[in-house]
Amino acid sequence: MENENQQNYTIEFKHVTKTFGDHTVLDGLDFKIHEGKITTLLGFSGAGKSTILKHILGIYHPTDGEVRVLDTNLTDLSDKEVRQFRTSFGMSFQYSALFDSMTNFENVAFPLREFTKLTEQEITAKVLKLMEQTGLEEHAFKKLPSEISGGMRKRVGLARALALEPKIMLYDEPTTGLDPITTHMVDDLIRTTHQRNAHIPMTTVIISHDIAATLRISDYVAFLEKGRVVEHSSVEQFKKSKNPVIQKFIELSTH
Ligand SMILES: Nc1ncnc2c1ncn2[C@@H]1O[C@H](COP(=O)(O)OP(=O)(O)OP(=O)(O)O)[C@@H](O)[C@H]1O
Ligand SMILES: [Mg+2]
Repeated sequence: MENENQQNYTIEFKHVTKTFGDHTVLDGLDFKIHEGKITTLLGFSGAGKSTILKHILGIYHPTDGEVRVLDTNLTDLSDKEVRQFRTSFGMSFQYSALFDSMTNFENVAFPLREFTKLTEQEITAKVLKLMEQTGLEEHAFKKLPSEISGGMRKRVGLARALALEPKIMLYDEPTTGLDPITTHMVDDLIRTTHQRNAHIPMTTVIISHDIAATLRISDYVAFLEKGRVVEHSSVEQFKKSKNPVIQKFIELSTH
């Protein structure tokens, strides 16, 4: 049996409320994310998933309550400290968000030039390793992002996100808008990336509408409704949830 006291959590929302004007988006949210695991956050559109992500990144601050990430209360940090702190995150965006005028190689090298004192030789070695890890072939290195396929761009974005060996990888809708085959590839890539970085250990958080992928690649699933996490369990338990809203969500998403 799992002992609650022996679990480590990388991210903790403690009774967090977030309001915009008179609109309450998070309403006394308690949510702890397991270290070294893949957790997917599900919920209907507008439920507040991206809002949670922005709190983790320190872009939003709670109206009430506390968000702790890697044992740090982000509200206590200055803007400069938050920027430095964000180097512990790898962020994978829906549209890869690469720099269009830089080669793919330079895109991956960018965080290393920006945040480390590595030599040119060390940067090259590191970028080559990252590109190999994410399955990028050599012919892509000298090309611009616009000259490779969407699936390949995802790999470049992921390689760049991994450059600083983040303790936390965040994916916001990683497969929205991709064809089924590329979707499968990205899902596999998320899982292998997570496993390959188990030594860090890496905590992976995915925000998704894609329930099939969620159930395939996650360790834990959390469901957000009315500003709170109403279910947080292993994939197996989640599938058996008796919560009618979750049953409806699963039904709508799989038909
Ligand atoms: N900066 C802001 N100002 C005002 N309202 C905001 C702001 N950010 C988020 N909201 C509101 O908070 C609610 C939740 O938004 P959020 O983007 O977190 O939802 P979501 O679950 O990510 O939805 P989707 O699945 O569509 O991406 C929405 O009603 C949105 O309008
Ligand atoms: Mg969103």
